Amino acid sequence: MSWDAKQYQRRHSYVFEYGQAVLDLLAPQSGETILDLGCGSGQLTAAIASAGASVIGLDSSSAMLAEARANFPAIDFRFGDAAEFALDHPVDAVFSNATLHWVKNSDAAVHCIARALKPGGRFVAEFGGHGNIQPVVDALHAVLGPVESPWYYPTIGEYTTIIERYGLETREAWLIDRPTKVEGEDGMEDWLGVFARDFVRDLEPAQRKSAFRSVAERLRPTKFRDGVWTVDYRRLRIVAHKTGARKP
Ligand code: BEZ
Repeated sequence: MSWDAKQYQRRHSYVFEYGQAVLDLLAPQSGETILDLGCGSGQLTAAIASAGASVIGLDSSSAMLAEARANFPAIDFRFGDAAEFALDHPVDAVFSNATLHWVKNSDAAVHCIARALKPGGRFVAEFGGHGNIQPVVDALHAVLGPVESPWYYPTIGEYTTIIERYGLETREAWLIDRPTKVEGEDGMEDWLGVFARDFVRDLEPAQRKSAFRSVAERLRPTKFRDGVWTVDYRRLRIVAHKTGARKP
């Protein structure tokens, strides 16, 4: 997936603004080392750093990393894939917001996460859960046919089964409906242009625009009201700990 990092920050800042609740669950402590997996433009990485933790931001998008480094030059941002990364030194916590629904090889990702944690370390994540943005997915398929979706939206049962396979113990898990407002007549097309590019990657630019317009028109009767679109986000939120010796 390629990102328009500026548009993401300008019009879709709710992605990291909603991340505050997951940050509260992470409760970063001074002196800890924490990996922010899928750090995007770095706002939550910076919030972790400001709690006094030593933080690494990892992302597989060069465009996002460029924004993150420009926004927060003092933070250690690194290029890496969530399903392939390895750290030199294990960390106290792996944090991830709005990333893991892009990672279809969830076994590989969880294997990397578990390997990156110290014994007793914690994995705190939020991402799209089962049924996430279903009306958008249905409209995309209605317009574009059986195109492969780039997104992975597991149930609690599916994901916790995977994390337990890799030596992590689920402490808490939630599936949360979070209808999200996107403003403006062109809000849905804009959202699709930032997040659903993979669906139209084989089309010419003019065809892409008209495909997204058709998707928005399908959604308009139920999802556009008083100048505001509703995107039916559904979040899977997980807290798990690596088994083994606990921190004192
Ligand atoms: C999400 O955060 O759930 C999400 C964002 C963009 C595309 C798909 C899902």
